[in-house]
Amino acid sequence: MKRVIAIDGPAGSGKGTLARKLASHFGFMYLDTGKLYRAVAYLNKSINETLNLAAREIFDVITNIPDSDLRTAEIGQRASEIAKNTEIRSKMTKIQRDFAELQNGHGFVLDGRDIGTVVFPDAMCKLFITADLKIRAERRLQDLRKNGEKITYDEVLNQLANRDYQDTHREIAPLRCDETYTLIDTTSKTEEESFQECVTEISKKML
Ligand code: DC
Repeated sequence: MKRVIAIDGPAGSGKGTLARKLASHFGFMYLDTGKLYRAVAYLNKSINETLNLAAREIFDVITNIPDSDLRTAEIGQRASEIAKNTEIRSKMTKIQRDFAELQNGHGFVLDGRDIGTVVFPDAMCKLFITADLKIRAERRLQDLRKNGEKITYDEVLNQLANRDYQDTHREIAPLRCDETYTLIDTTSKTEEESFQECVTEISKKML
């Protein structure tokens, strides 16, 4: 069993914030895998060109392009589209596994949609973070507005519903929670409450 904490869940569930805090709490490395898909969406190349990209070119985007340019609603939607492609998913899975290998046994937190189902099915701990769609839309609206996007609540709600559908209905590696996950519903919890619940779960698995 790898020293990997797999965190999956739908857009706007708060999984990214939790994953980052948990990595820092346990002294683990952190990889936001959604950002890999967003980087590919940002590059906006053909499928063939994307398949020929070196991992370094994708990480260069993550390192050099400001978060505000990768976190737009448009890039999120395009990333979700790209993520349906089988060959691109295989490439991304390999990049994530290679990255973990490079950590040389160091603990590792990854968040995404298929971390516990496909990328690291033997992860030490698998958390599925979710929340009601309306709450997620409110949270995402705040983030996008902070980012300077002019967008309405209804637009965000529709985009999230659309991404939920695409991410859960695609043929390959759909987002799904099974019995190997601990489900954490953040709908009526503060960030700190959700964080403590995750810490408790992970600590149990580390015994
Ligand atoms: O987590 P995010 O919203 O930044 O992810 C953007 C899109 O990337 C998401 O809608 C689906 C895709 N994605 C994926 O298919 N698998 C992952 N492990 C991470 C993201």
